[in-house]
Amino acid sequence: MLAPARRPESALDAAAARVLRANWREGRHRSGVEFGYTCPAPPRYRHMWHWDSCFHAIAWRLIDPARARTELRTVLRSGRPNGFLPHTVFWDAPAGWRRAPLYATRGCFGDWQTESIGPPLLALAWELVAAASPEEPAFAAEALSELGAHMDWLAQTRDPDDDGLLSIILPDESGLDDSPKYEPVYGRLTHDRVGYVLLVERARRLRWDAHAIIERYDHHVEDVWMNVAYALSLRALGRLSGEPRWAQRAERVEHALLERCYDKRTGLFFDLAGDRERRVKVSTWSALSPLVLEGIPQDVRRHIVEEHLLDSRRYGAPVGIPSVSMEELTFNPRWDRYRTWRGPSWVNTAWLLVPAMRSLGYEAEAARIVASLVTAVERGGFREYYNPHTGAGLGARGFGWSTLLVDLL
Ligand code: GLC
Repeated sequence: MLAPARRPESALDAAAARVLRANWREGRHRSGVEFGYTCPAPPRYRHMWHWDSCFHAIAWRLIDPARARTELRTVLRSGRPNGFLPHTVFWDAPAGWRRAPLYATRGCFGDWQTESIGPPLLALAWELVAAASPEEPAFAAEALSELGAHMDWLAQTRDPDDDGLLSIILPDESGLDDSPKYEPVYGRLTHDRVGYVLLVERARRLRWDAHAIIERYDHHVEDVWMNVAYALSLRALGRLSGEPRWAQRAERVEHALLERCYDKRTGLFFDLAGDRERRVKVSTWSALSPLVLEGIPQDVRRHIVEEHLLDSRRYGAPVGIPSVSMEELTFNPRWDRYRTWRGPSWVNTAWLLVPAMRSLGYEAEAARIVASLVTAVERGGFREYYNPHTGAGLGARGFGWSTLLVDLL
């Protein structure tokens, strides 16, 4: 992968750098471990989140690659020697008492990390940051064994039926907390309902042993986006290490997505829920996400772009890429006090999907999406997400991963 080309700094670059600098946290944890990471947006999101930090490092590599490397090393240090990496880490401040019981931790209070996972994007981020680190060439190979251990941990603990696809045991493990695609699966236990506490308690009782949880309860999902993230990282690790086994495993994931999740009639990829692997036929951006995988055939990817991304009744909105198809009854373009991922456009999803559109030749359409987000950011700053109809900035302000927009320019 090529190092990003330097271009003259724009006002948007400067604003992105201000957000990342303001959200930077560093210090020493009470266990003695040193940390340096970007919190998504204080005060609401003041901890470290796995996929947020991967995205932050990708953005930092354009501004200050040393910080990008520190952030990724911090993510790695938050894990365990067996390859586990947590979804959320409380490095410098424990979760507030009101929110603590809602975090997927071992006990109710006092833990410094969750037992849940996040979208496994670390190897992908590592490769991108390594390519932007000519001053530290050893960075590329420095964590190969840990990154490999993480991939193996995922396969061993999260793929009990060994079909190549990872399962999530909590809806928010995918990062798509309240997505309507989880309603038919979790029912009263979704992330936005009180039942979620029960889901966490149940997992605590089984000591977060995913095999035991999956065997005992039917609330688990082979999640399309989660597996897309996994395949992206497997490919990246293959390139970083030069070992063919990672690309082979990526191919297996891509093949499984195609064989098991792809719905020919709609051209979408659907999650598989529970033991019977019921297809969850809800159109969210996750159903489009295999677009970014090189192992998915071109005609399938083109179909996603033409029939979904560019269709003005579905995802072809005036601003960004909506997180839920505008055709779905659950689609809500506005801010919802309790729920996320139910309609608004996020920058990280554009960062993932837009380059894939460009590589398939949809350059004008890709440019339109980027320009619409640039206008939204210029008007409202780097917000958590945006109304896809009006571009109004919604949710948290000074939101870390929204700075990925500068990487699309
Ligand atoms: C919200 C998002 C999740 C993100 C977290 C921190 O919970 O749904 O994806 O990781 O905030 O930004």
